Amino acid sequence: MDIVEPLSIEAVDDLRKKVTRFGMAYKFALEEISTKVNILKEEFRLIHDYNPIEHVSTRVKSAESIMNKAHRKGLPLSLGVIKIRDIAGIRITCSFESDIYRISEMIQSQSDVEVIEVKDYIKHPKPNGYRSLHLVLKIPVFMSDRVEKVYVEMQIRTIAMDFWASLEHKIYYKYDKQIPGHLTEQLKEAADTVAELDRKMEHLNHEINILKENDSQDGIESHAFNPRELMLEMIRKNHITE
Ligand code: GTP
Ligand code: MG
Repeated sequence: MDIVEPLSIEAVDDLRKKVTRFGMAYKFALEEISTKVNILKEEFRLIHDYNPIEHVSTRVKSAESIMNKAHRKGLPLSLGVIKIRDIAGIRITCSFESDIYRISEMIQSQSDVEVIEVKDYIKHPKPNGYRSLHLVLKIPVFMSDRVEKVYVEMQIRTIAMDFWASLEHKIYYKYDKQIPGHLTEQLKEAADTVAELDRKMEHLNHEINILKENDSQDGIESHAFNPRELMLEMIRKNHITE
């Protein structure tokens, strides 16, 4: 029988520090990436008078989920923690499909963001119909004594894609038996309907933008540049507070 040596106070303290630092790095990485997304969102709103982002959520995978996933992938826990790339996750819900690629490009082109993998389940949906753009990124986190590069999984999708994925997850979560064929078909049909809805909304938005552009070109002479008017307009729109 193995005799388990009691851990020394120093060893317990060291372990505690390691576990705390481990969790912290992922939390900080999410804070870093959330700031980046918020800057894009604010800047877009101010400069283009348009907000492409509907909703942002983040989560750090629970210790239980990490252990389950490591087990599922046949990895020892220590290696699992290194190889699992979705311990820190951020999900961005956009208005239109084109916004997804816009946001993705802007994030990918930032010099401190390392792009590890891009999975485009919009151009290539999963067999069940799942659509979203996934980016696996590495973000530097500047700590007191070192810089840690931390994996972050970013999922970017439209409201419609999110609607389908959330309900699909609810319906099938923890149903580990084979799903009957007719139900899989219906699920795929629902995904196709959602994709069609995204296309329609994108088209409508595009058409209206063309109309808006034509309108503003027609009125170009009558709207001479007036800095005071512009400032008042920004205050009215709550862009600047006194
Ligand atoms: P995981 O081992 O589950 O992380 O999959 P993976 O490493 O192959 O990555 P993938 O990019 O395929 O999926 C990662 C995440 O995307 C999942 O954890 C889900 O949040 C989401 N996802 C992927 N496929 C589906 C799906 O069919 N339905 C739903 N609802 N979400 C999905
Ligand atoms: Mg995952």
